[in-house]
Amino acid sequence: MKPRILVLYYTQTGQLRDILDNVISDIKDKAEIDFAAIEPVKAFPFPWTTYEFFDAMPEGVERIPLEIKPLPDAIMNAHYDLVLFGYQPWFLNPSQPINGFLLSKWASVLKGKPVVTVIGSRNMWLHAQEKVKEGIENAGGKLVGNIALVDNNTNLVSLLSFIRFAFKGQKEKSRFLPAAGVQDKDIKASKRFGPPIYEHLVNGTLDSLQDELLGIGSVALNPGLVLLEQRGIKNFRFWANYIRQKGGAGDPNRKGRVKQFQRLLLTAIFVLSPLSSLTAFIKLQLNKRTLLKDVAYFKNTAYEAGRI
Ligand SMILES: Cc1cc2nc3c(=O)[nH]c(=O)nc-3n(C[C@H](O)[C@H](O)[C@H](O)COP(=O)(O)O)c2cc1C
Repeated sequence: MKPRILVLYYTQTGQLRDILDNVISDIKDKAEIDFAAIEPVKAFPFPWTTYEFFDAMPEGVERIPLEIKPLPDAIMNAHYDLVLFGYQPWFLNPSQPINGFLLSKWASVLKGKPVVTVIGSRNMWLHAQEKVKEGIENAGGKLVGNIALVDNNTNLVSLLSFIRFAFKGQKEKSRFLPAAGVQDKDIKASKRFGPPIYEHLVNGTLDSLQDELLGIGSVALNPGLVLLEQRGIKNFRFWANYIRQKGGAGDPNRKGRVKQFQRLLLTAIFVLSPLSSLTAFIKLQLNKRTLLKDVAYFKNTAYEAGRI
């Protein structure tokens, strides 16, 4: 009998679906594969207006559950041997639709199942993955693998092309900037992950799947990222709380504070970021051993609360 795999995902621009289609492309004849898209009841705009984009931060960071459409009964009641769970980080946390799913009753679809997470991000996904690990554990699932695709351009270039895409809708390369998002060649190359997932599933060796996935480059992690995310998440938590004191999502009373946050984040990225890269570099040299331990942890599937 063919193994049954559920591909569960949210995507706003289609990138994650494209990645998942590639991951399964070499195993789709050997397995029964169902797709289920997680969809918010009220869709987020694309392209984003700047205000709506920054206004989405506080609820994402405080992990206020977003209402999602019900998953079909046919999916909830079917038997699956494995779930491929595709998601993206928003403001260093699982995107709001994914968070909504993890905190909903539909998350019980993960109960008793091995789960492989597939991330499509700009390049900062560590804290989001910790929250997803927690969500999978709470739902009674077991994380057995992680594939994290990122935009491999330098941080500044990837940010600028992301901004062009998110606010103008232009993904294609422009005069000075490359195409936005995960590089096409990396998306296509993600088909190499399907066969090991299939082999470990049918051989009952999913406990060693992540080692094999890491061996073929499922996660590349620069230690500086750990420091950057630690710093970023602290600031986001402060701002999320400060903004929400004035009201919930869309409340006009919080407009002033959302705009303050927007200005601060843009300044931090373009002015303070080179400076903080320097301090991160120094910290990196001083704390190398601890950071290398952190890197080993974040590359793996175990979950220990409070690591970031
Ligand atoms: C509101 C918002 C916040 C984002 N925050 C992050 C982030 O914290 N880290 C990151 O690496 N990418 C971030 N991104 C980029 C998304 O991860 C990227 O848009 C996603 O990979 C696109 O996938 P999709 O079109 O399949 O949803 C953010 C995107 C949006 C729209």
